[in-house]
Amino acid sequence: MTRVLYPGSFDPVHNGHIEMVETSARLFDEVVVAALINPSKGDGLFDLDERMGLLDDCFDHLPNVSTTSFDGLVVDLAREVGADFIIKGLRAVSDFESELQMAQMNSAISGVETLFLPTASRRSFLASRLIREVARLGGDVSTMVPDPVSRRLADRFTS
Ligand code: PNS
Repeated sequence: MTRVLYPGSFDPVHNGHIEMVETSARLFDEVVVAALINPSKGDGLFDLDERMGLLDDCFDHLPNVSTTSFDGLVVDLAREVGADFIIKGLRAVSDFESELQMAQMNSAISGVETLFLPTASRRSFLASRLIREVARLGGDVSTMVPDPVSRRLADRFTS
């Protein structure tokens, strides 16, 4: 049995993330999706509990996917949940450098290895930062995020 951990900021989760989880759920026996703090990204839009609530809403149709949130090192969470690997998605070469560095650091401090999955090219422009920005300024992101996220963004920016 292979269990993988798919960590991210998920602020908010978008369709590129959904694709990664659905692919992982096909390839591996169990997938744990975890909302974590990215210390380089500041406060963000939704708090960790809200992000995890949205992850729950998005993945309740996948029986081998569970969700959690964690305020600490991703490798500590990997150990806590018994993950064999960390999964990361790659949208473009620009992701590779920072993801490689994190994968090497995580391997060096814990021995936990990271597997990379490519994102479909039609979703490679999706980024939570841009989705927040477009939604905040009144643009339509409804085709880029799952329905629960679309509704939550509308609540947040129209009230
Ligand atoms: O979606 P993101 O922002 O690219 O995800 C990055 C994340 C949250 C996975 C990364 O910042 C992280 O692992 N944060 C937890 C703290 C940690 O373990 N830092 C050391 C990374 S080498």
